[in-house]
Amino acid sequence: MNVEPSSCSSSCPRFGGGDARLEFPVGQIHRVAAVEPEVDETKRNLLKLAAVAGVLGVGIGGVAGGALQYVQPPAVGISAYPKTQLLDVDGSPLTATKVDSEYNIGTSDLFLFNYPLRNEPNFLLNLYPPPSGSSYTVKNGVGPNKSIVAFSAICQHLGCPAPAISYYPPGTCSQTFKNGSLPFYIHCSCHGSTYDVTDGAANLTGPAVLPLPQVTIEWDDPSQGGNDYLYAVGETGPPVNGHISTLQGDYGVGSNSQLEKEAPVITCSFPT
Ligand code: FES
Repeated sequence: MNVEPSSCSSSCPRFGGGDARLEFPVGQIHRVAAVEPEVDETKRNLLKLAAVAGVLGVGIGGVAGGALQYVQPPAVGISAYPKTQLLDVDGSPLTATKVDSEYNIGTSDLFLFNYPLRNEPNFLLNLYPPPSGSSYTVKNGVGPNKSIVAFSAICQHLGCPAPAISYYPPGTCSQTFKNGSLPFYIHCSCHGSTYDVTDGAANLTGPAVLPLPQVTIEWDDPSQGGNDYLYAVGETGPPVNGHISTLQGDYGVGSNSQLEKEAPVITCSFPT
């Protein structure tokens, strides 16, 4: 026989039949202890407050996170450095012979190409032939004279891009740096940072402290059966300024990248 208070709603616990088991409607929490233990009211209120704050926090965080995924632009980038052939300003394949004959140390124009992303410009430099009285080796230089190099054209200080940061060919401005007088260098007109192009664009004067990222150039050597073409295949040094990773922040350039010619910005007044 069921014993059920007449005033009790259907959600009340009720005694079962012959085996005298307690039965509870589905979903109802039942108290096991016969006597409720004493609870510190202050502690109870604090716990309630924490629980409410937690729920609200999760809720607001979830809503905000959900909204942000639509507000933020989608992350773009590439997963690895591509092998990218360098093309001349007219779109034809660029050869080391052409760079030696026309884009050499006497060239005052800037030759820039994007790599590995579309918004990452780089200088293509050829430090050949050495100006009279100069003797140097070019770190990581390639080509018949091991003189062709490429560096990021975005300053490592606050990110001024070319032509605000420019290559200064020999004779442009006479400067003496910590390691002596250099015939050529890269200089940023924004705040005066200078980089040594023979030494992997190591920093010569601040406020920048890091070198410029160096693009790894591969030359298809004709003496080894190659076609004299030049390729960008990687990058060393710090990430391009403004990017968490050199591979993240825009779409990749793909299998080729064309040179663009720009006039440099030259300022011969350096910070003292
Ligand atoms: S951005 Fe180049 S020195 Fe400041």
